[in-house]
Amino acid sequence: MKKIFIINGPNLNFLGIRETGIYGNDNYDSLCSYIQEKFRDKNIKIEIFQSNYEGRIIDIIQNAYYEKIDGIVINPGAYTHYSYAIHDAIKSVSIPTVEVHLSDIHKREDFRKISVTAPACVLQIYGKGKEGYVEAVEYIIKSFEK
Ligand code: DQA
Repeated sequence: MKKIFIINGPNLNFLGIRETGIYGNDNYDSLCSYIQEKFRDKNIKIEIFQSNYEGRIIDIIQNAYYEKIDGIVINPGAYTHYSYAIHDAIKSVSIPTVEVHLSDIHKREDFRKISVTAPACVLQIYGKGKEGYVEAVEYIIKSFEK
């Protein structure tokens, strides 16, 4: 069975609490169950992680290498905009990785328009809320068929 890691960065555990006008009222647990539910019976194993710490996110990416994970979906939160260490970690493992953002980072503050992690990814999806995660997983699943 193919395996995918979904990795969420800082403050995503605060969904439903933080800036609800931007991120909505649904909490983090409901995001996780929504994704798992979508791919139940799809013959794919999805593991979802969240950390507020850069080093922990890098450890999870490196574990994806050791555990021979087939794809990664990552929402690095604000680390998107400045973590060259996460960029390097994604590059290091050579696992197809899709970057996801709930909000449209290209229509917000200027600092959000820059992603230093996206160049290490095969695709960036933004502004589609939780559907962005579903799209990202589907993209990775399609790439297995090629
Ligand atoms: C985010 C966008 C980032 O700019 C922000 O720092 C986040 C969430 C998103 O999902 O829209 O924490 O990654």
